[in-house]
Amino acid sequence: MTYRASACGKIILLGEHAVVYGFPAVAVPVAGLRAKAELAPADLPFILIAPDIGLTSALQDLPANHPLAFCVRRTAEFLGTGIPAARLTITSDIPPASGLGSGAAVSTAIVRVLSASAGRSLAPGEISQIVFDVERIYHGTPSGVDNTVIAYECPVYFQRGREPVLLKINAGMHLLVADSGVHSETRSAVDGVRERWQSDPARYEDLFRRIGALADIGRGHLENGCAQPLGITMNQCHELLRAIGVSTPGLDRLVDAARQAGAFGAKLTGAGLGGNVVALADPQDLERIGSALRGAGAVAVYRTTLESV
Ligand code: PMV
Repeated sequence: MTYRASACGKIILLGEHAVVYGFPAVAVPVAGLRAKAELAPADLPFILIAPDIGLTSALQDLPANHPLAFCVRRTAEFLGTGIPAARLTITSDIPPASGLGSGAAVSTAIVRVLSASAGRSLAPGEISQIVFDVERIYHGTPSGVDNTVIAYECPVYFQRGREPVLLKINAGMHLLVADSGVHSETRSAVDGVRERWQSDPARYEDLFRRIGALADIGRGHLENGCAQPLGITMNQCHELLRAIGVSTPGLDRLVDAARQAGAFGAKLTGAGLGGNVVALADPQDLERIGSALRGAGAVAVYRTTLESV
């Protein structure tokens, strides 16, 4: 029998980088962008196929710290099943290295498909923990926000070391995600912030604290379905992310274009130094803002809606 599973991408609405230092963040799923895993029975050995990255390899030939191989081994260990005789194919429409959680989504899809094939249904918290272990290979010191929002696939208020708070939203929210086309590795953006924090801890801790405070304020706006004030909070967060040195002229251009075209707010999302910006807008303005973003250099623009619950 062939098993299939998928996992969503994610957007950090507020709080990136500061979340690594223990401050809160708000993140939401992007249901339409997905990583997919298909597990088909095969003769041994276990084969991993990831056409997007040109990978076809027996699991046993991949190094222990290869993130895909580590994810398979870690999940099998968690399930206590051993490695099945199977062929695992992974595809994803989430652009990699662009702040949309591609790595965590691929890992989540793998955990889900392996547990389904073992006849087990893992709780989101269990999936999130396994994916966090894989994220440490990708990122070194992940906060845990990506694996949490993707494993739960619902808006979350996240703070390191605490149970995530799953958020209920009072009114639909309409978002555009615009890709700058510049790949950026989370690890190097996070390392850069850490170096600057170490050389000026007082200034950076103040910036982190202010970013965290915006996450607290924005959480309320999101829960209450207040798009306009949430947009203002996003704008303020972008300014603080600029101050910690993770924006670029290209990202600032996209953010400005979205605001000028009528977005309630716009900011970079994820690690920055490339990747994506997110804009919050009234549904009737999305078309115009999308064109403005493309005109300002976005190589792709996605729409996503957070439904009220
Ligand atoms: O670039 P992404 O999507 O992996 O987001 C990283 C978010 C950071 O706050 C910069 C790092 C983290 O581990 O939370």
